[in-house]
Amino acid sequence: MKPITVTVLPDTATLTNEDSFVGGVSLRSLAETYGTPLFVYDEATLRARCREAAALFDDGVAFASKSFLCGAMARLAAEEGLCIDVATGGELDLVLRSGVPANRVILHGNNKSREEIARALDVGVHRIVVDNHDDIDTIAELLAPGATAHCLIRVTPGVEAHTHDFVRTGHEDTKFGFTVATGAARRGIDRLRAVPGVVVHGVHAHIGSQIFGPEGFLEAIDVLAEFIAGDSFDEICIGGGLGVAYVEGEEALSITAWGQMVRDAVIAKGLGGLRLLAEPGRSIVAQAGMTLYSVGAVKTVTQRTYMAVDGGMSDNPRPVLYGSGYEAFDISRPLAERTQAVRLVGKHCESGDVLIDEAWLPAATKRGDVIATPVTGAYGYSMASNYNRVPRPAVVFVAEGQARVVLRRETFDDLAALEIDNF
Ligand SMILES: Cc1ncc(COP(=O)(O)O)c(C=O)c1O
Repeated sequence: MKPITVTVLPDTATLTNEDSFVGGVSLRSLAETYGTPLFVYDEATLRARCREAAALFDDGVAFASKSFLCGAMARLAAEEGLCIDVATGGELDLVLRSGVPANRVILHGNNKSREEIARALDVGVHRIVVDNHDDIDTIAELLAPGATAHCLIRVTPGVEAHTHDFVRTGHEDTKFGFTVATGAARRGIDRLRAVPGVVVHGVHAHIGSQIFGPEGFLEAIDVLAEFIAGDSFDEICIGGGLGVAYVEGEEALSITAWGQMVRDAVIAKGLGGLRLLAEPGRSIVAQAGMTLYSVGAVKTVTQRTYMAVDGGMSDNPRPVLYGSGYEAFDISRPLAERTQAVRLVGKHCESGDVLIDEAWLPAATKRGDVIATPVTGAYGYSMASNYNRVPRPAVVFVAEGQARVVLRRETFDDLAALEIDNF
């Protein structure tokens, strides 16, 4: 197997015979200074992807914070002109704490609590994306006389996106949104419009995640266009879902190509006058991030070699959840041929705690070496857990030769902080 190629690395990555650099910072020095496992994000890549989204869509285009959220990320996306999409009270709270103005926040969620809606109304979020009749009832109950709630309505266009079942959301048999085909979406809009103080700006559809081809998005636009024909909306949001290449050989559309394709389709349907919005998450953060691990126990059985690292399914649950593939490389020998296939596993008490089923690494990779798994910037840290009471890794942003810790490593004290008795 050839050495890793930069196609799956952050935009600023450079490789030498004995080190790898991102944002002008040596990965070896990062591992030495901050320890492993460590999430490393390239600010230049994050900013470039945000700018693409801001340029291709209209004002109100959002970063889907579920893909990776911390204060630094929320501020960065907002600085680059994006709104922030949140799906829970916890995400809303963090984004507000990070200093992003409430009127740049969009509240989602298929099961919004009374408290979540109350807070969103209280602080005055940019949009509430109404998902179901319970949302409508709660907004009607909580919206103060004279106050305004700016809403989109989430519809399910009946599109079977070509992606993993767990991240497919546009088909009818899903917990999200109002179905177009049954008339539920039309009834939802009528009910929502009847609530005094509610402005329904338009429709929202998110058909799924990690979608490579254009077909699903184009089908969804067809359905939405037919659905809203003759209505007086001013916005249309096509959600997120753009796929990224996780392993070499995979090819994904850029945000620019995706945005252009969607805009062309919307214009062709006569909807060019509407604000065209989207909520990319993965396509903004995935390739900007990578995880550094230290190699620990190495065990060879008849069939294969197991190489264990100091993290695993707690910092990257995607392989277990979706069977996702990743690449790996030795940060101190990034240009070496990767001649050895190993099963890269974590430190958790599950046989299924496999990060990469067949990872190719240079020969003689051994205990203590630091390896990187690229494209772990999305749905890694944000889905991280403390399974086996493993502390969550630190997160470092790198830019122009400087590194800054944006989330410190969790400690055993952090993990014990919720205990009540005998502490
Ligand atoms: C409503 C909504 N918008 C946007 C996103 C972001 O999707 P992605 O990270 O695939 O771009 C999601 C992801 O689940 C979502 O549910």
